[in-house]
Amino acid sequence: MKTIIEPFRIKSVEPIRMTTREERQTLIRDAHFNLFGLHSDDVLIDLLTDSGTGAMSAAQWAAVMRGDESYAGSPSFYRFEAAVKSLMPFAHIIPTHQGRAAEAILFSIFGGLGRHIPSNTHFDTTRGNIEASGASGHDLVIDEGHDPASLHPFKGNMDLAKLEAFLETHGDTVPCVMITITNNAGGGQPVSLENIRGTAALARKYGKPFFIDGCRFAENAWFIKQREDGQGDRAIPDIVRDCFAEGDGMTMSAKKDAFGNIGGWLALNDDGLAEQARAHLIRTEGFPTYGGLSGRDLEALAQGLTEIVDEDYLRYRIRTNSYIGEALDALGVPVVKPAGGHAVFIDARAWLPHIPPLNYPGQALAVALYELGGIRGCEIGTVMFGAHPDGTETPAAMDLVRLAIPRRTYTQSHADYVIEVFAELGEIKDRLSGFRIAWQPNLMRHFTCRFERLAD
Ligand code: F0G
Repeated sequence: MKTIIEPFRIKSVEPIRMTTREERQTLIRDAHFNLFGLHSDDVLIDLLTDSGTGAMSAAQWAAVMRGDESYAGSPSFYRFEAAVKSLMPFAHIIPTHQGRAAEAILFSIFGGLGRHIPSNTHFDTTRGNIEASGASGHDLVIDEGHDPASLHPFKGNMDLAKLEAFLETHGDTVPCVMITITNNAGGGQPVSLENIRGTAALARKYGKPFFIDGCRFAENAWFIKQREDGQGDRAIPDIVRDCFAEGDGMTMSAKKDAFGNIGGWLALNDDGLAEQARAHLIRTEGFPTYGGLSGRDLEALAQGLTEIVDEDYLRYRIRTNSYIGEALDALGVPVVKPAGGHAVFIDARAWLPHIPPLNYPGQALAVALYELGGIRGCEIGTVMFGAHPDGTETPAAMDLVRLAIPRRTYTQSHADYVIEVFAELGEIKDRLSGFRIAWQPNLMRHFTCRFERLAD
């Protein structure tokens, strides 16, 4: 069959509040043109993030009822721990309220002034936690990862030559090596098992611990199964286990590939590091058998981890993105190719060449998508990455708009609507104006900064 159907039925629904284009023009202006400032019931199709926005299954809701809220030693924790360890065989599993809390703990140990932490591409909260510790983050993705048109099957791969040169140059100031699977900030592109192994081998050679940001590990494993030589006949959980067997630890946002609305964890093999991390955890998140989570959250995640590695789900999941990506491509919209695991990324710099990077073409496109179609996407470009700790600003490597697809939440007709909005936008795109930033905070400005439209 040509159509890959949603492999689920809908048992419970949430209404979408309809709005008009005129209403939305006022709403976005009142939010200073920052899409994070909108009320979500003013959005028709919310593609701001795939994080915590997925639909839980009936089995997950049933597990929620089983949640044991004991402060210490809850059976819910032990079910959660066993579910994590069955895929990621680390010695210590430390629950946190979400991924960035795991990062904050990790970099309270590995960060610090004058230190340098390489990755394929650090996500913005990862970079934020590194920089807040006084260290600096470095993105060493392969060159193809910066080329939206390149069809390389693993555009999230670490550039191993650059990594080795980096480790030579920075020596003792490098406390650890990281890799993000899939590479969210670089277009949701996967990393091959071979590249994970190569990165781990270099880290070992230079005596550095190797950490995996595993947020979208199941999507990454699906791409490995589809695209990597010798992996096609293997079960997804086996591929996942092979990926994490290379690491000394991991950070995880369970709001992605654990089907959670909240949750995360830090995993470590080293007993001493785990002791340090748990001390921090108790101070900031909670006792080690619940971290920042309730027992019912832990239960939902334990169940979610069994569902996320289901091949029917992953086939449908990845097809949703390629379906939208192919349709946009056919309309002449420049999309990052091949489509990523959790999102479709549009190359706004290429589609709106009349808007220079420092006037934020990604922001212009994201605002236009909302005004015209009520779709909320997210700029991943110069707004997100252009500002530097020393107060200067330079264009980011790419100006993308991300349409992140929440898990099991929208149907194919929602996808068709998104495609239709792009077709309409194609008619008016040459008249869109750029923006300037009227106010911004010191760190992670994209969440709260205020914009002014240049033509207004
Ligand atoms: N690492 C990656 C690769 C992520 O994509 C995220 C979150 C985090 C870490 C932090 O996890 O949100 O649970 O604290 N990404 C979300 C997104 C916010 O929209 O891409 P968190």
